[in-house]
Amino acid sequence: MIRFEKVTKTYKDKKAIENIDLEIKHGEFVSIVGVSGAGKSTLLKLIFGEEKVDEGKLYIDDIDIASLADEDIPYLRRKIGIVFQDMKLLPKKTAYENVAFAMEVAGYPKDKITHDVSKILDIVGLKDKTHNFPDEMSGGEKQRVAIARALAHKPVLLIADEPTGNLDEVNSFEILDLLQKINQLGTTVLLATHARDLVNKIQKRVITMDKGRISMEQAKGHYKL
Ligand SMILES: Nc1ncnc2c1ncn2[C@@H]1O[C@H](COP(=O)(O)OP(=O)(O)OP(=O)(O)O)[C@@H](O)[C@H]1O
Ligand SMILES: [Mg+2]
Repeated sequence: MIRFEKVTKTYKDKKAIENIDLEIKHGEFVSIVGVSGAGKSTLLKLIFGEEKVDEGKLYIDDIDIASLADEDIPYLRRKIGIVFQDMKLLPKKTAYENVAFAMEVAGYPKDKITHDVSKILDIVGLKDKTHNFPDEMSGGEKQRVAIARALAHKPVLLIADEPTGNLDEVNSFEILDLLQKINQLGTTVLLATHARDLVNKIQKRVITMDKGRISMEQAKGHYKL
């Protein structure tokens, strides 16, 4: 699904990503760990087209993304759902409306939106918060709305960059369980995190980054620095 071939990304004269070779297959759950500044977010930004590759090739579903014109980037993004540390929900919209809005923007018909949003809110365990506003929800609940929103256009890949960065341990584990459930339902998941306990619990593939390079690969990994 994703293939990096000797990819380098440089900001001014600083190499944020250097000579990365990496392949991620459909259906995988991959954690990316490493100290602050190691290049985790940059790696993810290259995949969803927020930053461009300077050297090497990056293929997504066999498409060389360097060959995409700027106007094609939205089509790439349609395959991908993105969740960040700060959830950026619309404050004046309910959980339902935040998710529905993402589908309206993508042009789905109204009856499909009504059907899908309640199904997605059920998957993320928020049925009873459907009509609550963000300031009436806990951090963990808000993050679940953000995940529901990222799933609204049925992405084949979910990218989560420090999704538990603002959450306590209990909520972090709940978000992790949810990401695993989403993965079991067939979506490829890429998780960047500092949270050692989370990665150790998953027992899935772990990629450790250090100074823009992959310093370690583990099939059923533990977070080591
Ligand atoms: N827009 C930018 N302009 C210049 N340098 C940048 C930019 N974004 C990132 N960098 C640099 O690239 C390197 C990698 O940053 P990146 O954000 O990918 O790290 P990270 O592993 O996600 O760190 P963190 O754990 O703190 O989120 C860092 O040295 C950072 O300072
Ligand atoms: Mg980061």
